[in-house]
Amino acid sequence: MDASEPKVPLVEMRGIRKSFPGVTACDGVDLRLGRGEVLALLGENGAGKSTLMNVLAGLYRPDEGEIRIGGKPVEIRSPRDSAAHGVGMVHQNFMLVDTMTVAENVVLGMAGLPLVPDMAEVKRSVLELAEKYGLRVDPDAYVWQLSVGEQQRVEILKQLYRKAEILVLDEPTAVLTPQESEELNVVVQRMKAEGKSAVFITHKMEEVMTFSDRVMVLRKGKVVVEKVTSETSPRDLAKLMVGREVLFRVEKKSFEPGAVILELKDVRALDDRGLPALRDLSLKVRAGEILGIAGVAGNGQRELSEVITGLRPVSSGGISINCVETTNKTPLEIIRSGVSHIPQDRIAVGAVGDMSVASNLAMKGYRDAPISRGVLLLPRRILDLARRMIESFRIATPSPETRVKFLSGGNIQKTILAREIESCRSLLVAVYPSRGLDIGATEAVRKELVAQRDAGMAVLLVSEDIEELLSVADTVLVLYEGRAMGTFPSAEADPEELGLLMAGVERKETVS
Ligand SMILES: Nc1ncnc2c1ncn2[C@@H]1O[C@H](COP(=O)(O)OP(=O)(O)OP(=O)(O)O)[C@@H](O)[C@H]1O
Ligand SMILES: [Mg+2]
Repeated sequence: MDASEPKVPLVEMRGIRKSFPGVTACDGVDLRLGRGEVLALLGENGAGKSTLMNVLAGLYRPDEGEIRIGGKPVEIRSPRDSAAHGVGMVHQNFMLVDTMTVAENVVLGMAGLPLVPDMAEVKRSVLELAEKYGLRVDPDAYVWQLSVGEQQRVEILKQLYRKAEILVLDEPTAVLTPQESEELNVVVQRMKAEGKSAVFITHKMEEVMTFSDRVMVLRKGKVVVEKVTSETSPRDLAKLMVGREVLFRVEKKSFEPGAVILELKDVRALDDRGLPALRDLSLKVRAGEILGIAGVAGNGQRELSEVITGLRPVSSGGISINCVETTNKTPLEIIRSGVSHIPQDRIAVGAVGDMSVASNLAMKGYRDAPISRGVLLLPRRILDLARRMIESFRIATPSPETRVKFLSGGNIQKTILAREIESCRSLLVAVYPSRGLDIGATEAVRKELVAQRDAGMAVLLVSEDIEELLSVADTVLVLYEGRAMGTFPSAEADPEELGLLMAGVERKETVS
């Protein structure tokens, strides 16, 4: 027996095979998880991570293979069976009901509940659990009122309420701020101290190092390596995942900005709850420039991208694109002025799950030759164009006709990126473009953003990753509570100072 294997596995998956039309997602995978252990599951987009965990959670039945829990073979036919064996999964895309409260969501669909559950009792237990694990939530709040981070806490509470012993977290930190990720680590370590176990899927190497005891890397549905976390390094793991050295540096031509493409003057806007989100924000992005917006999520980034692209009204101030006033124009008018948008909320805004990959890719080009003639769409040309984009952006899909909802999370993201980058004519608004992407794809996207800039586009890049901003952007603007805290050439920016500004601490020089 290998030293990296736990002595008494709590969960054992043996020879798991699962195919979908045109693709073998899991190709004979063995997985062991010990009691009180956190296993990190790594792998490129489409490697089979979510599929493997969906098999354990009872969403998919494997074509072949065996699952043992506590040493005994078990039949997992449904999520309910899986829950009965102590497995609880928090999915890549949350599954809460918006119009119900936190407490209602926690008990929703639970087995063995009375017809009318005692909600006061449920609320009491939810608060108790929240206290114990440090998961702050209001049991009476409606899900639609919650931030993404809060929704995730509800998903975790839901599993703890069901007494999950084995928690599966599918890319939990992709949508969290760095602070929230730290809080999540505290929760996971508390669970571990109680002898609970977890499988943790992530694309971030540093998280593998802080969260996990062991790490397993999947490539094309097969296990390529299993290691004790302390015996590996982020660099090693990156190489094992992609099969080559990953460059974390991006080559750029010198910065030669052209005319102003985007200009905001004293823009004010409200958030969804009617509170001020942008406060007199002014900025400029020129042709051939990447302006990086640095800031902790929730400081107006979403609203900024939405006012530019016509998805949110501006309450005062003005926006112009290519010297044409676009304040409060419709999204269609703004798209026509050559603007592309990689949105924060991909599932709701970015892609249509029930349409094919090809249709999703063509969605913005359908008014232009070469894929339409007058009112006629040319299906052959749509397919040809799609094939080219699938190839150049390395979108893993069985065919251009596969519906987008059957792609892996990262490949849905790549589909949106391909469409928006391809259709960009003057301004690209990219909000967290590398979220959910594996490190190879992240590297490719950064190169693509730089290529757009070199081709003379203006790029507005929203990111939380200071390293990404400093390596890709020409200019960095720090956004805090909807205000610009400062704008710097990225070559002169100091990461530590940026961090302070992102936390709302003013620069010394500017304090009078
Ligand atoms: N329900 C489904 N129908 C058809 N194909 C599917 C389905 N679910 C997954 N697949 C395919 O199986 C493969 C593995 O997908 P999976 O979601 O497991 O990848 P992943 O490792 O989680 O990737 P990511 O990092 O992008 O989330 C992909 O090629 C995907 O398109
Ligand atoms: Mg996945």
